[in-house]
Amino acid sequence: MKKFKYSEITPENIYKNRRKFIKNMGLAAGSMFIGQNLVTSASANTNKEELKLTDYRYVTTYNNYYEFGTGKSNPVERSQKFKTTPWDVVIDGEVENPIKISMDEILEMFPSEERIYKLRCVEGWSMVIPWLGFPLNKILKKALPTNKAKFVKFISVLDPEQMIGQRFPILDWPYKEGLRIDEAMHDLTILVTGLYGKKLPNQNGAPLRLMVPWKYGFKSSKAIVNIKLVEKMPTSSWMKASPNEYGFYSNVNPTVDHPRWSQATERVIGGGIISPRIPTTMFNGYGDEVANLYTGMDLKKKFL
Ligand code: MTE
Repeated sequence: MKKFKYSEITPENIYKNRRKFIKNMGLAAGSMFIGQNLVTSASANTNKEELKLTDYRYVTTYNNYYEFGTGKSNPVERSQKFKTTPWDVVIDGEVENPIKISMDEILEMFPSEERIYKLRCVEGWSMVIPWLGFPLNKILKKALPTNKAKFVKFISVLDPEQMIGQRFPILDWPYKEGLRIDEAMHDLTILVTGLYGKKLPNQNGAPLRLMVPWKYGFKSSKAIVNIKLVEKMPTSSWMKASPNEYGFYSNVNPTVDHPRWSQATERVIGGGIISPRIPTTMFNGYGDEVANLYTGMDLKKKFL
């Protein structure tokens, strides 16, 4: 398997720009900076205009990460000692150029930028988070997918010694998710390396997680170690755990209820004592950008 040498392919200016970017992030951290970005993001998502960033403390203490337990506070309580260095990610399967790349190389080669996306959890709550990341398509293109690559499978780390939840058969470990190749190649789909201008906290999926803003939050696999290009539609851990409740596509859709509850509204985490509910929007507000990926498909069919 070919290992990428950063110096072979990354022009020096990208590296320098990344440095500058990270420096700016550090200097600019504060409410002014956050406010500006909220305004910027509003143009890309009609739903964003009324949205406020969720406080860092909620983003990092109210989590779903079943490898560390099923309680919302389990991930922050139990993941602090989880080792994320060294960390390699393998991109293989239906590719001409399989890659094994270290997390350090990823950070050097693919400069992170800020993207403010709302994470809409299938449980009926949401948070607006300033993520740091880069389009997944940038790394996929380096592996040169073959024409048999119709889907992308994401495999998270398997480490029951460090992850207490993996000692129990709660899900089909390691955590698995999938996207169709055009969804994976879409510019809105990012690999996340940080949030709020900082390194990604362990409880949020360090060192590398997926974020697909028009899909339910469970599509955003944490602690990814393998990205596999495949010909057949992969079965995700959620599809396997509960085939009557979870399908492959899982696009945010307020008109299709989860079999056990409605998806019409969402509770805004950290929105005050009363925890306001707001209407959930089709594709989480990204219809203009992504609806065309699903032309001709019946979007009412059980999460698809
Ligand atoms: N990734 C892994 N590896 N394990 C998980 O249990 N939970 C998913 C997703 N990614 C999960 C995961 C679910 S259900 C949600 S809603 C989001 O992570 C939560 O992300 P957050 O904790 O950063 O808000």
